[in-house]
Amino acid sequence: MTSREIRQAYLDFFKSKGHQIVPSAPVVVKNDPTLMFTNAGMNQFKELFLGEANIKYPRVADTQRCLRVSGKHNDLEEVGIDTYHHTLFEMLGNWSFGDYFKKEAIEWAWELLTGVYQLDKSRLYVTIFEGDATESLQRDLEAFDLWKGLISEDRILLGNKKDNFWEMGDTGPCGPCSEIHYDMRSDEERNAVSGATLVNADDPQVIEVWNLVFMQFNRLKDGSLVALPAKHVDTGMGFERLVRAIQGKSSNYDTDVFQPLIQFIANKSGIPYGQDEKTDIAMRVLSDHIRAVSFAIADGQLPSNNKAGYVIRRILRRAVRYAYTFLNFKTPFIHELVPVLSAQFHHVFDELKQQEDFVEKVILEEEVSFLRTLTAGIQRFENYIGDHQSIDGNFAFELFDTFGFPIDLTELLARENNLQVDMEGFERALLAQKERSRAATSIDTGDWIPVNDQQESQFIGYDHLSAHTEVVKYRKVSAKGKEQFQLVLAETPFYAEGGGQVGDTGYLRFLDNNEKIDVLDSKKENGLFIHFIDKLPSTLTGTVEAVVDESKRKDSESNHSATHLLHAALKEVLGDHVNQKGSLVSPDLLRFDFSHFSKLTYEEIKQIEDIVNRKIRENIALKEERQVPYQQALASGVTALFGEKYGDFVRIITFEDAFSKELCGGTHVKATGEIGFFKIMSESAVAAGVRRIEAITGSKASQVIREYFELMGNLKELLNNPKDFVSSLSKLIDENSALKKEIENQIRERSKGMLADLQAKMIHVNGINFLATKIDLPNLDAIKALAYTLKGAVDNLFLVLASEIDGKPNLTVMISEELVKTHQLNAGTIVRELAKEIQGGGGGQPFFATAGGKDVTGLDRAIEKAKDFLK
Ligand code: SER
Repeated sequence: MTSREIRQAYLDFFKSKGHQIVPSAPVVVKNDPTLMFTNAGMNQFKELFLGEANIKYPRVADTQRCLRVSGKHNDLEEVGIDTYHHTLFEMLGNWSFGDYFKKEAIEWAWELLTGVYQLDKSRLYVTIFEGDATESLQRDLEAFDLWKGLISEDRILLGNKKDNFWEMGDTGPCGPCSEIHYDMRSDEERNAVSGATLVNADDPQVIEVWNLVFMQFNRLKDGSLVALPAKHVDTGMGFERLVRAIQGKSSNYDTDVFQPLIQFIANKSGIPYGQDEKTDIAMRVLSDHIRAVSFAIADGQLPSNNKAGYVIRRILRRAVRYAYTFLNFKTPFIHELVPVLSAQFHHVFDELKQQEDFVEKVILEEEVSFLRTLTAGIQRFENYIGDHQSIDGNFAFELFDTFGFPIDLTELLARENNLQVDMEGFERALLAQKERSRAATSIDTGDWIPVNDQQESQFIGYDHLSAHTEVVKYRKVSAKGKEQFQLVLAETPFYAEGGGQVGDTGYLRFLDNNEKIDVLDSKKENGLFIHFIDKLPSTLTGTVEAVVDESKRKDSESNHSATHLLHAALKEVLGDHVNQKGSLVSPDLLRFDFSHFSKLTYEEIKQIEDIVNRKIRENIALKEERQVPYQQALASGVTALFGEKYGDFVRIITFEDAFSKELCGGTHVKATGEIGFFKIMSESAVAAGVRRIEAITGSKASQVIREYFELMGNLKELLNNPKDFVSSLSKLIDENSALKKEIENQIRERSKGMLADLQAKMIHVNGINFLATKIDLPNLDAIKALAYTLKGAVDNLFLVLASEIDGKPNLTVMISEELVKTHQLNAGTIVRELAKEIQGGGGGQPFFATAGGKDVTGLDRAIEKAKDFLK
């Protein structure tokens, strides 16, 4: 079977068992503070396990793109070195939400592997959870018995909590699991050593392919386990490993999942795959990393300098470095892999095909800029080894951190120069940095404390701006040492931040005692609507009146609807390649990032503004459709966003059918006329291939326009209201610079005139030509020029000039280089000492230094003091 057939067979099999096939969620996670990237197929169902959302389909199956490069599950360092870990991988999964449990999960897994895929039973092993006394968890005898009906007992192995109790993260849904392992060794090897001894022992040929998790618990913040409202099944099968087992290969990279990429790289580099371990590793790294980077970008995460963006940037840099050092690609190459990859995933994950040009462009720009740093880093390395006998841990860390050098590159460079790297020092520096970043981002979230036993919360804010409701639960959070509380209401009119629109603010009034608490923000976490407050009310029970700040909400609505009009106008003026890459909609402004490759011209900006304002004046009524089946919505030609996870039913916001029709969960004006007026304030670049527009609407726009008029009025008045303002102003500017030049000339003349006089005042002691005097010149530049002229004219000069400019005292010290050497005189030290007299400070170089101060009367004392240095 080809990998395509294998994937399809999985989905077909579970479809035949009554499962709904759903699309993969984006690999970039948005609404979960505990996770940056999707790391397991079950992520998108977290709220179903926790009982925080309605179950639509009790049985679901899919293939999910996952990334294990940060947090609890991180395989990055293994990737490419070994043959079965990946940054991005597909996880085939089937789920039961409170429906079937262990029996069906186990039996179907066996049926699929041995029946449909025809895997060799004599190569299969399974594990079950052995139990854990410290957590009072029983051995999973139920799973054991179920397996006994399918496989001989000596192939059922016990596994400990580390291997056989699956947890999503430090908190969240979890449960005992049963893994299926496959022994890919030759018959000879299998006869010599039993595969049972190699399960979970890091043998590259005896590997886990499928994990069946029986979700039963929620791990709380305090470490305790509580039973979930229902029992669920969560299975995850590593697609690339499965393909390898079925295709009988000894490496994931030998399957048709990776070979097209590997062969492309081999061709371009002129080095065959399989020739040398070093170049093989590099090819594996490239063919793996391009997948993670491409899909992250397609799902909306651009490489950047922080958080998820930095993880992506580092993966890409790791790839560039391998390409550069081992495959001799000295110019950008990796972006060329994008079309190969997107062809492979055509009709599987179409996001990539649809954004091929964009993804390629972003990667190219990253490559160009990192290749520059890479060369600089290698230069830095070479300079360093010029005067060092070994590579200090801190230096290795600097290369790692500043130049993006993975440590093995530094080690390799060191080896080539017969030097050692202080690995312990490096690890220490790395650990310290991890600690720093953990401390900077750590948010300590307490467990939810229930107030009543209602589970769900409902958003009613499309239709209402206030409600009478109750508190469902609350929790304490501390971020960077600041304490806050979060609270969930049974019904809420507060719009939770999402789709770029900021969360509503407002207040809660607890009617029992009339206590009023401000709502500072509203956010969505998984399926919950969370309100941020900075103090708890004295009682949480009883009826609560929840009231949204209406004027802020209205301003956000104007900006949100204007964003839709802008999006449509951009496509009309610039072309269909324009895709939303991020947006912010707040009461004050809207910010819209979109894919486009060049700066917008003045003409284009004008056209865009004109279109949006025309649509505003047409006062187009909002058409809002809720609960439209997703496929039907797509068929009607709506604009959907990449990297957004849509449910089965979606909301469509339309302003004129043929103009703007978007999938959107935000809040909007009832008719475009409410927006009032639209004005673009700036257009700029955010990243390669991504432009940003910031704009304002409504009352904010009229306020800004009024301010501009006022400013213009004031300016005109200053020029006595000329007929042609611009030409009057440029005339003024010309006159001004002519006058400046004239003045500079005069000053130069004046200093020249002083020269003879100053030289005459000089005293000569021990071969030093000394002068400390007050000087009258209008600015520091002129004084500096004079000091330099004197230095040019007089040997062995020790000069102190004291001056008053704009009421402030200044000191300038100039010392000839030869005196600096022979007499150890230092202008910097001297000026700092003298500056004490004028209550100031300063510094500079040994031959020239300046200082400023506060006390003008000290200038004479400073001059006197200068003579002390002569002694
Ligand atoms: N959640 C489990 C895993 O990721 C099974 O899907 O391994």
